Amino acid sequence: MRDFLACTAVAILPKAEALSGAAPAACRIFAAIGEFAGASRPIVPQRLPVCDRLEEALNIAAGGPPSVMALAVAIAALSPDLCWQRRKGADREPESFFDGHANALVVGPGGIEDRDDVQIGLSLMAPHVRYPDHAHPPEEVYVSLAGGAWRNEIEDWHEPGQGGLVYNPPGIVHAMRTDEQPLLAVWCLWAG
Ligand SMILES: [Fe+2]
Repeated sequence: MRDFLACTAVAILPKAEALSGAAPAACRIFAAIGEFAGASRPIVPQRLPVCDRLEEALNIAAGGPPSVMALAVAIAALSPDLCWQRRKGADREPESFFDGHANALVVGPGGIEDRDDVQIGLSLMAPHVRYPDHAHPPEEVYVSLAGGAWRNEIEDWHEPGQGGLVYNPPGIVHAMRTDEQPLLAVWCLWAG
């Protein structure tokens, strides 16, 4: 699990300076992660239908830049322990979304590393799926590992590309969507 966090920091921190707003959030998140000495704990793993796309997404990530490739290896090692869950309210969304997405919390309340100040997790989406517009108080940094486009209230749809970052200020409405490829991304929220 710590390999995953170290690889996430390497994928995000060097690039955060170039993205407006992302650097302070990323620095707070990974400073807190570095200081926490708590042990990881087992959670009950769970797979969902979209997890059939994880191998494909990891293969795409493995063909990306070195930091993305390393993160893909760390995620593959972690994957048997992950508890993939649907977004709350997904049963009110189209079936393509219901069975075409999942999120896995690694760090955060109820995660493998249980804590309140930081949340780090994964999103996986099948091709041709749109994640609903949503907003949350904590600011957020994503690193894209495979596929997908992002938008928010101030930025139209764009593809950050493998290893590219997306920053969402606190409370902004944002979403992702996929085209031909599955989306795999790591997100980090600062809730401290
Ligand atoms: Fe979000």
